[in-house]
Amino acid sequence: MCGIVGYIGNREAYPILIKGLHRLEYRGYDSAGIALIDSESNLHVYKTKGKVANLEQYCKDKNISGTIGIAHTRWATHGEPNDVNAHPHYSQSENLALIHNGIIENYLPLRQMLEKNGFTFVSQTDTEVLVQFIEYVRSKSQCSLYEAVHQALSQVVGAYAIGVLEKGNADVLVAARKGSPLIVGVGEQEYFLGSDASPIVEYTKNVIYLGEEEIVEIKRGSSDILIKNLSNVKLKPQIQKIQMDLSEIEKGGFEHFMLKEIFEQPKSLEMCMNGRVQTEMQEIILSGIRDNIAKFRNARRILITACGTSWHAALIGKYLIEYYCKIPVEVEVASEFRYRNPVVFEDDVLIAISQSGETADTLAAIELAKANGAFIYGICNAVGSSVARLTHSGTYTHAGPEIGVASTKAFTTQVAVLTMITLLLGKELGTIDDSTYKHLVTSLSEVSKKIEKILSKADKIEQISKVFTYARNFMYLGRGYNYPVALEGALKLKEISYIHAEGYPAAEMKHGPIALVDEEMPIVVVAPKFKIYDKIVSNIEELKARKGKIIAIVTEGDTNIANIADYVIEIPSTEECLSPLLTVIPLQLLSYYIATAKGRNVDQPRNLAKSVTVE
Ligand code: G6P
Repeated sequence: MCGIVGYIGNREAYPILIKGLHRLEYRGYDSAGIALIDSESNLHVYKTKGKVANLEQYCKDKNISGTIGIAHTRWATHGEPNDVNAHPHYSQSENLALIHNGIIENYLPLRQMLEKNGFTFVSQTDTEVLVQFIEYVRSKSQCSLYEAVHQALSQVVGAYAIGVLEKGNADVLVAARKGSPLIVGVGEQEYFLGSDASPIVEYTKNVIYLGEEEIVEIKRGSSDILIKNLSNVKLKPQIQKIQMDLSEIEKGGFEHFMLKEIFEQPKSLEMCMNGRVQTEMQEIILSGIRDNIAKFRNARRILITACGTSWHAALIGKYLIEYYCKIPVEVEVASEFRYRNPVVFEDDVLIAISQSGETADTLAAIELAKANGAFIYGICNAVGSSVARLTHSGTYTHAGPEIGVASTKAFTTQVAVLTMITLLLGKELGTIDDSTYKHLVTSLSEVSKKIEKILSKADKIEQISKVFTYARNFMYLGRGYNYPVALEGALKLKEISYIHAEGYPAAEMKHGPIALVDEEMPIVVVAPKFKIYDKIVSNIEELKARKGKIIAIVTEGDTNIANIADYVIEIPSTEECLSPLLTVIPLQLLSYYIATAKGRNVDQPRNLAKSVTVE
């Protein structure tokens, strides 16, 4: 939530910052702003409500010159999204400007203290409190900007990624992080800041992932990068190479990132399985599991925690692991897990799943389980993210950057990783027989081709979607492995079309949701042909008897359901445990086409942000 960009070097900062904001807009788009220091060392702040495009419009007649600057795109936490609450925030003297991603929890007592000391505030934000506090510390102790930021942050409770500029100090940029991500890009005689690598990758592949509670000072024309932690220990900058390619973060001819990412799934799954699913040898190779097999072998149980779409992948993980590995699995959304004082044993394994690797609740759940001695395994997409760094071991999904706020390719690659983990564990623990193992490895390697086939019939799904733009409610039903897929289908629809949608276990709908069914109600039933097929056919009959409009996701050639349902969308046949990788694709497309037909901004739906770095 909230995107941060910064630049110091020899080029004009404004175009770099604006481009960076566009790339980070998925993190929040309530308001945007920019601070620049011009050649006379004057500090200018321009900010406005709305998207980055509004900011560009606003800046048209302003002085936007300067080779140092910071910029911000906001997802509001404290204070409504308006011009005043937008970042950057000035300090009282207007000598400092600050951008912030996170929440300062003790902002009220700090604000009261500052007010007693003559500070006045123009916004309702915690961020303005922080910049004023830094100014207060600076004026009290007459220290450098870096020292003032350091001292101020030592007294701050909360989460932050910040960038600070000072009038008259055009050669220094100070930044810091705790809880929220921040990356420093290291170019030739120039530096960049970014909440992720997307604003940086065009200029340099050398980056420093700032660690927890670290404060950095970067100076124009100097190769010395000063990094200290809050305990005042000086740290050696660790420069790493990012793998990301510019083409991965551009739309590549698609109308929206979401559509591009849906269509990328065959490729992202291949990347995910590359070198891991060995088709010739019919083997799974996952070093994270192999190197820690004893932890899994001795595990009392596996806990899986995640949020949003990643939680739906986790639910599929439970079906997979319990069935094939015979290890008890508990799945819980991270925000519940972290606050209910859960029982965690030293011989538990906690798997944390996160696309961004930065979701605040998931990170807190990891910390909690770690403090209780559990072994922590991460499944995440963003390389170098906090999940990757906080966990004992893990597997990257290698889906490539996901920009659309509604998660698509991250989900399928998470499910693929969970499937690979299951197969390997099952083999190592002796809970899967060899022929089943080899057969499933081969079937998994064929999934990408099958997804291509579903995608090639996207126009049929687009046709169906046009019928349902009238709907105010939708129901999604599924059983077994496809119950979490029903939840995911409902989430996709509500996120981007703003149509209310509920996912339910198909049989459970008789215990309540069936009361909602009438001739207006579209019901998506995920009904591929597996062992409880007959039961789900009965469920469809029950819904038809009440005049519900059925859109069924069925296995190719299923004429039975085709005769009962209003619309059918076919998926190629596969093994039951692999079916979520296929059945979710039509649901993603259905949501996309309904939302675009309704004129929604599918890449940046209202009130949402891709990376939820606050609680
Ligand atoms: C937000 C995003 C979702 C995502 C969830 C968890 O709600 O909009 O798409 O599934 O966060 O994010 P994570 O990065 O931890 O998977």
